Amino acid sequence: MEKNVNILTGVRPTGSLTIANYLGAVKPLLELQNSGEEPLLFVADLHAITDYEPEQVKQYIRELVADYLALGVDPEKTTIYVQSVIKGQIMTLSAYLARLTTVAELLRVPTIKDKIKHGQSAESANALLFFYPVLMAADILIQRAKSIPVGEDQVAHLETTRVLAERFNKKYGEIFPIPKVTQVKSLRILSLKGDGKMSKSSPEGAIFLTDTLEEAEKKIKRAQTAGDKEMTPSLESLLLIVKMLDSTEEEQKRADDIIVRHKNGEQVMGEFKDLAIEIVKRFLTRFQTKRKEVLADPTYIDKVLEQGNDFARKNADETMVMVEKAMYGN
Ligand code: TRP
Repeated sequence: MEKNVNILTGVRPTGSLTIANYLGAVKPLLELQNSGEEPLLFVADLHAITDYEPEQVKQYIRELVADYLALGVDPEKTTIYVQSVIKGQIMTLSAYLARLTTVAELLRVPTIKDKIKHGQSAESANALLFFYPVLMAADILIQRAKSIPVGEDQVAHLETTRVLAERFNKKYGEIFPIPKVTQVKSLRILSLKGDGKMSKSSPEGAIFLTDTLEEAEKKIKRAQTAGDKEMTPSLESLLLIVKMLDSTEEEQKRADDIIVRHKNGEQVMGEFKDLAIEIVKRFLTRFQTKRKEVLADPTYIDKVLEQGNDFARKNADETMVMVEKAMYGN
């Protein structure tokens, strides 16, 4: 099982995915995998319990793995594991890293700052949330990963990882590669109702991978677009969905053509929505069929995870031996 870990990324199991999750997070991973990389993907269940109940998180783990497999993650190329199978190693490494940072530094991390913005004081934030960037550093460093593709919102956390890796290496020797952060292009997929980004928190404006075709159609029919001749963020976002959601070249051309006509003052928003409905329905049908296939063999997910978990454990144990030798001496 020799494997050189280059790329690693994590995803929190917190419930149903939307097409925005697919476009923003899963598709970039598929592109890496299909370009010959062998990424590590882990289900960040310890991170999920910062704000979700453990019992629920546990149920979401298999759901998430089923979704990712149905979306095209290939376990022959991408190693999938569950973070908590190495929770002992991760928590120990977190403690070793935490002694190299200060409370003040952790208070400056944006997730905590967001909490303050939302009316809470930093002091009243859940202490695991406060610890989040250290835990992330441990996730990455324990696998000695070199490159971390993440969305824009995670970039600040990874700065903490780089700083902690550098401090550790400086003090105890070159144990950790300094991970490179690769920010995946952020797509502005907005809520169909025009209330911010598409997300679970506004279900009427989000298309879930588990939506029935009728539900999806209804949501698109009610979606905000734009008045005569204008381009709005809502329309741009719908156009992005139409063009990125595994549509054919012919469909992409048709979409561009409709937009040209719209800008010329033609009444084509109905036609545009029909095209969007066709593309979204086909995507959902393919996904849902594939997901049934994935779940048809009840042991399949277990086998996939067993393989990934074995790799993650072995690699984490190796790292901990190196780390403790470096820190405590022989
Ligand atoms: N914090 C990430 C998120 O909320 C998930 C995550 C946890 C992660 N540990 C990581 C991502 C390490 C990349 C690397 O999406």
